[in-house]
Amino acid sequence: MEIKTVGVLGCGLMGSGIAQVCAAAGYKTIVREVDETFLNKGLGRIKKFLDEGVAKGKVTAGARDTTLGNMSGSTTFDALKDCDLVIEAIVENLEEKQQTYTALEKIVNDRTIFVSNTSSLCITELAATTTRPDRFGGLHFFNPVPLMKLVEVIRALTTSDETYQTVFAFAESLGKEPITAPDRPGFIVNRLLVPYLLDAIRAYENGLGALEDIDKGMTLGCGYPMGPFTLLDFVGLDTTYYIANIMFEEFREPAYAPPPLLKRMVLAGRLGRKSGRGFYKYEV
Ligand code: CAA
Ligand code: NAD
Repeated sequence: MEIKTVGVLGCGLMGSGIAQVCAAAGYKTIVREVDETFLNKGLGRIKKFLDEGVAKGKVTAGARDTTLGNMSGSTTFDALKDCDLVIEAIVENLEEKQQTYTALEKIVNDRTIFVSNTSSLCITELAATTTRPDRFGGLHFFNPVPLMKLVEVIRALTTSDETYQTVFAFAESLGKEPITAPDRPGFIVNRLLVPYLLDAIRAYENGLGALEDIDKGMTLGCGYPMGPFTLLDFVGLDTTYYIANIMFEEFREPAYAPPPLLKRMVLAGRLGRKSGRGFYKYEV
């Protein structure tokens, strides 16, 4: 199936990056947010990234303008009615995602493919909440989307061969390196990454060392681009908390249980970079 017009649900950390790479690859891209404030914040993030890319000599001014020209924002579902593919990147919550698909299915045509950028929810369960379980799959991008090459493509039990092939080819058309991942909690990457991040929090709570020393240990000692606390703040502590709960619910293994400190930080509004404070403090 040919994809020309792409809808993106959510213009947060991930939705903004996803909308950017779709528009940069030449797709007409429409991103939907819940209100003007979130929409303008997300569109502002895209423009800032592109402007910085121009300043760094990584993006031409022409490519920036073409990308921005291919993109539009809306707070309505109606704006997505002509989309061939809709990529959902809203909050990591089954009920919220389900409600969004129900609202969207009233608007789009029968051929439209839905994919979720969920980090940990069951793709088969998400597909089953729609009337298009064969035209539904997982397309899991990595943060920051414009810089990270990997995309995981996940088949629900119900995903048709045509949908899977279309979505895989679409990921390639964005200049990404797709891999096929199973419909298990955390797919491939988060299955390995999330227990490591949660373990770092538990170890810190148990007095392993200062945040800065643990981060420095993993960057300089193992060559990781970011230490675990820098990465946790980057991903978002709320999102990490939701992911941990979902994975723990499925696996029932202590390695996936959210550490008490993570829960308390989320309750205190310390969500990481996006809120100005997580394990570290940031300018917002
Ligand atoms: N536009 C275009 N290019 C840009 C850019 C911009 N605005 N900003 C930076 N770049 C380019 C740089 O020029 C540089 O290119 P070269 O390598 O060719 O020199 C490259 O991007 C890296 O940028 P920087 O040198 O400025 O930054 P860095 O070296 O510190 O790398 C990073 C930044 C890529 C984010 C790196 O720190 C990193 O890989 N961090 C780990 C991120 C990670 O693990 N993400 C996964 C999170 S988990 C997840 O996403 C899944 C989930 O479900 C939770
Ligand atoms: P975020 O909190 O930065 O953004 C979520 C956005 O969705 C918010 O701006 C919110 O207003 C919006 N939203 C909520 N309900 C909506 C609706 N019904 N319609 C449109 N917009 C709606 O979160 P994020 O980090 O971008 O995560 C989004 C999804 O991507 C989650 O499923 C998460 O698990 C997944 N993910 C996150 C990361 C990461 O590193 N943060 C990486 C890969 C995948």
